[in-house]
Amino acid sequence: MGFSTRQSHVESNSLRTRFASIDVEPLTPHIGAEVRGVNLSAPLSNEQARDVSDAWLDWKVLVFRDQALSREEHKAFARRFGKLHVHPMQHLYDGDPEVLIVKTTKDSAYTSGDGWHTDVTCEEYPPLGSMLYVTETPSTGGDTLFANMYLAYELLSDPVKKFIGELEAVHDGKIPYVGSYKTKEPKGGYPRNAHPVVVTHPETRQKLLYVNQGFTSHLVGLRRNESKAILSMLYNHINSTPRLWCRVEWKPNTLTFWDNRCTQHHAVWDYHPESRYGERVSIVGEERPHA
Ligand code: SIN
Repeated sequence: MGFSTRQSHVESNSLRTRFASIDVEPLTPHIGAEVRGVNLSAPLSNEQARDVSDAWLDWKVLVFRDQALSREEHKAFARRFGKLHVHPMQHLYDGDPEVLIVKTTKDSAYTSGDGWHTDVTCEEYPPLGSMLYVTETPSTGGDTLFANMYLAYELLSDPVKKFIGELEAVHDGKIPYVGSYKTKEPKGGYPRNAHPVVVTHPETRQKLLYVNQGFTSHLVGLRRNESKAILSMLYNHINSTPRLWCRVEWKPNTLTFWDNRCTQHHAVWDYHPESRYGERVSIVGEERPHA
């Protein structure tokens, strides 16, 4: 049995639940909240946009229920936060390059995101956030888990923080897109980039753990077995610490907006042979992840 440390300062920060233009209902004390009082199909007022943005920075994962959104309205909401991302696997599809279809049926060989990961960290400028709009859900199941990477970092011991604080890790698109999804690489290959293992969030200025099982191939400058052992220790920390997580239960017409700069997520495929359908729009980060 493991032992929990007492509340860390990341958990004991009292996050805001009172905003002038929206209602915020937390899912856990430090990650995830449902937001009420916003119709995302209409342009947000400046006050709503500011409140949603502040709540997103605090809660990291925002859940908006009962939204009737066209694809253009979904994209227009995302554009409030920056330029839209084109996914590296889009060369395989004919559809809208700014929309990633997240569809699982009884015939699917895999479901996207079924494992802890942060979206597309193989990019030089990984998406700063993603918005998944789910319109078809199974009768039960199909939830998504999210983990707080500030807290994951905070709960490490000081010597481990010091050691990993000097390291960089390589993030390689081939790992999920060829290794798991068996897709053909585009001309020039999938992106592959190194980022620090501990990064500072560009807006909150807080430090966080920035390696993920989905994309990280190895730690730069370490022997293979050393890199494997340290990454396993960090992944095991994320996989075995429930207090890092929240769980989003989807209902049709739910949009969830997460901050990729400080979270990981894991889509749970527990509903075969039923189906689930959603569309994801991501926003390009303006800064490379940095220490
Ligand atoms: C993803 O963006 O990784 C998919 C998440 C989900 O389907 O819940």
